[in-house]
Amino acid sequence: MQKFSLRLYVVALIAAIVFAPISTTTAADFKREVIYQIITDRFFDGSSTNNNPSQSSGLYDSTKTNWRAYWGGDLAGIQQKMSYLAGLGVTAIWISPPVDNLNTNIPDGGGNPTASYHGYQARDFKRIEEHFGNSSNTWTEFDNLVSAAHSNGIKVIIDFAPNHSTQNNAGEFGALYDNGTLLGNYSSDSNGYFHHNANISGGGWDDRYQVQYYTLFDLSDINQEHATMDSYLKAAAQLFQQHGVDGFRIDAVKHLNWGWQYSLANSIYSYGDSFLFGEWYQGNTSDPLYRDSYKFANKSGISLLDFPLNTAIRNVFGSNANFSDIDSVISTEGGNFTWKEDLVTFIDNHDMSRFLSLNNNNNRLHEALAFVLTGRGIPCIYYGTEQYLHNDTSGGTDPYNRPMMVNFNTSTTAYQLVSTLSALRRNNPAIGYGSMGQRWINNDVYIYERKFFGNVVLIAINKNETTGYSISGLNTSLPAGSYSDYMSGLVGGSSISVSSGSGGNNPVTTFTLPAHTVGVWQFTEGASTPQIGSIGPTAGQSGVKTVIAGKNFGSTTGTVKFGTTTATVNSWSPTSITVTTPSVTNGNYSVTVTNSSSQVSNSIQYTVLTAKLIPITFTVNNASPTQVGDYIFLTGSTVELSNWATTWDAAVGPMLTPNYPNWFLVASVPAGQTIQFKFIKIAANGTVTWEAGSNHSYTVPTSGTGFVTVNWQY
Ligand code: NOJ
Ligand code: NOJ
Repeated sequence: MQKFSLRLYVVALIAAIVFAPISTTTAADFKREVIYQIITDRFFDGSSTNNNPSQSSGLYDSTKTNWRAYWGGDLAGIQQKMSYLAGLGVTAIWISPPVDNLNTNIPDGGGNPTASYHGYQARDFKRIEEHFGNSSNTWTEFDNLVSAAHSNGIKVIIDFAPNHSTQNNAGEFGALYDNGTLLGNYSSDSNGYFHHNANISGGGWDDRYQVQYYTLFDLSDINQEHATMDSYLKAAAQLFQQHGVDGFRIDAVKHLNWGWQYSLANSIYSYGDSFLFGEWYQGNTSDPLYRDSYKFANKSGISLLDFPLNTAIRNVFGSNANFSDIDSVISTEGGNFTWKEDLVTFIDNHDMSRFLSLNNNNNRLHEALAFVLTGRGIPCIYYGTEQYLHNDTSGGTDPYNRPMMVNFNTSTTAYQLVSTLSALRRNNPAIGYGSMGQRWINNDVYIYERKFFGNVVLIAINKNETTGYSISGLNTSLPAGSYSDYMSGLVGGSSISVSSGSGGNNPVTTFTLPAHTVGVWQFTEGASTPQIGSIGPTAGQSGVKTVIAGKNFGSTTGTVKFGTTTATVNSWSPTSITVTTPSVTNGNYSVTVTNSSSQVSNSIQYTVLTAKLIPITFTVNNASPTQVGDYIFLTGSTVELSNWATTWDAAVGPMLTPNYPNWFLVASVPAGQTIQFKFIKIAANGTVTWEAGSNHSYTVPTSGTGFVTVNWQY
């Protein structure tokens, strides 16, 4: 007996060594990652065999003078640069859409050939583009890239663009294939796979109906409520999960059907661990759809790229605006986004001029980099930033913001800066999980503190190019003591000393912050109580796995509770626990961790869904008359339907009314359940009007999509 268990133990030990994952966190907790955004075609040409494939020959320009042609970068090229990326401190790469794209050139306004080298014109979501992989469109090079990334501790995020296929008026006219089999195209669409509406333009960009149902830049707008499209797109996402991807950057989430995306996220999380973030373009927090953006991020399971903060970062570091611009976005968003630490922050990307085209000043670039790497949110660095890559033609906007990567120099200041601050993000949980509070500010100086329980990081940035500032009256939560700059003076920082004060306000001895300087000072505590910093996904039905991440869970398995119900633990480490969502009544739960010494953590919110989600189009005809600013909402009997909530932020909606007074919207609701629901009017002043009569009732199908239409009950 003893011999048997010893042998088992040895087998288990060997298995543990062989299968031990390199990276310590799972995809569901991305808060401690550093993302690097790559346009695959413009990074590195790892194989010349795929440069001019036969099925789409003539899209490649070896001279790299046509900025809208393929230039040769490929998946093998990214794979070959993996140690460069690991040295940079990158822990996840976001690659441009890798799926099979448009096979033809389409002339631009000036008659120049343009190809879909960027990947946003998919023709087959289940195959790999021949310019990036091989001429048979198989997965070999993709799989090789994923395993090389994973063995370097780097996660892989794909850009996924299910809003549309190819252009509807030229080239392949939207033709869409399912692993090689033609499904249909836009110009002869007898199945109704596409929406046939005009391009979004003018005021349409702020109209909830038009942004979702009109056409984005002539791109064939896929009708996700068609059951065939719904299952095709969800199966494609799952195929990428099967091929090992850790996350999805979802293109144009503002233009996809919002309600459908809840079911997309649920489908991905039901299959496995992942991190999702979407592109919801908006200039600032006064955008007419800003409220919709945070409602979406709070409830859908899809985080967002932080565009309002991006604008402020560009204004402050690029155009010398006052630091209050950044500070006010952080505080406004902080009050609106439930999962703000999951917002993905960035200085620039492939759709705007690079920072150095905006302001050709490396000091300012370093300061902006230090800000995104230490500020609230998950930093995403656009490829080449660490090499000061930029081309300023036409102001450096698309396509000149997508030059070929030329240098891979590991000794630039920017490269060292990213690498050092990436290490800090991994070593001190205050960066990924902590609060962000302003401690000292003027037009040029921003001093802020990140704090997670007793773990603290204090960051000071002076963006003035010539003037140093004397910093007096600064308080911090860092304990009394002397602190050296975490970056060892790389961007001019030096030591500070802290004496003890009271109430979390310890005075920092007056010091000088020289011109263009960043100082970073940090402390990690030795506490033993479990501390939760993250849960992901944030919602799921019974059986879905969720990951709780933080500190001090201990190495011996303890317990996890959803409210008072103990959940099954699938894996347990000192910093990460995977649990199965228990079978409890749908609703919001406080999740806590108790370690093996009976110490109980803080709690974090998780939503237990009723069942897997099915996208249903709800229509109410002849609804209560509305005035400008009044909207019709849906509310109902389960957490997915808001449990009869009647507020703007909680009820489902606002609904859309292209045919007033009829209103509709897609909501993702629990499969197989008989739901009770009603429609309400929320007036501009908040007054709620219920429709009369008894509740509507509907049994949700167990798969596919569904439609339910009722008349408003007077
Ligand atoms: C946003 C992407 O980031 C952009 O580059 C692309 O052209 C559009 N969506 C359409 O897919
Ligand atoms: C909530 C639901 O029970 C619904 O059916 C009812 O109409 C409203 N409350 C108003 O009483």
